[in-house]
Amino acid sequence: MISVAIDGPAAAGKSTVAKIVAKKLGFTYLDTGAMYRAFTWYCLEKGVDCENEAACVNLIPEVNIEMKPNNVVLCNGIDVTTAIRQPRVSGNVSYIASYKDIRLFLVEQQRNMAKNSSVIMDGRDIGTYVLPNAEIKIFQVATVETRAKRRYEENISKGIQCTYEEIEEDVRKRDRIDSGRAFAPLKPAEDSILLDTSHMGIEEVVNAIIKIITDKFPETRIYE
Ligand code: CDP
Repeated sequence: MISVAIDGPAAAGKSTVAKIVAKKLGFTYLDTGAMYRAFTWYCLEKGVDCENEAACVNLIPEVNIEMKPNNVVLCNGIDVTTAIRQPRVSGNVSYIASYKDIRLFLVEQQRNMAKNSSVIMDGRDIGTYVLPNAEIKIFQVATVETRAKRRYEENISKGIQCTYEEIEEDVRKRDRIDSGRAFAPLKPAEDSILLDTSHMGIEEVVNAIIKIITDKFPETRIYE
């Protein structure tokens, strides 16, 4: 069993490539950001102010997040796969992710998922905190402008209304909060490999990650 951790700042393309790599290698993929997004969606549904830590933490006992095949996300049985990508969720998720109790609640579930199969997990703290013993750790970066452009185009193609300026501001704000929080902040693990994808296409990044994995574990099978 192999665990692959892919961390990095907002909209660096981690989930896009992690999904493809997982499929090619037959690994389980876990989008940990989607779990923080689902919790944020629930707080917003309840009309709770996401900047009010105590009020958000109080909701933990009533939140049940399920990560289904094909990246479907359920929150208390409701399919929130699309709703968690909305700008109102993106704009609040970094507050929720800065609360230690909420992180401990979600990290426990993330660690359980890595127990029984080879996994690729993407997030902010996978290599540093969730899976510190992961065999492969990648820190995927790109310039703010590249990341904002990619996320803007992704949103438009999914029919999510937004402007480029709003997205760039959101990406900068999340990077600031994610890197600055006290508990399990965004930072490269000491033993991570830095992958700057500013000038790389999706396929190139996928191939680079597969090469990193197969160089270390040559027996890894690649399914087409
Ligand atoms: O896809 P994108 O880069 O926009 O973000 P995401 O992976 O969906 O994560 C959304 C937010 O959840 C991040 O900005 C972090 O605040 C938080 N997060 C985290 O704190 N730790 C993780 N392991 C994953 C996400």
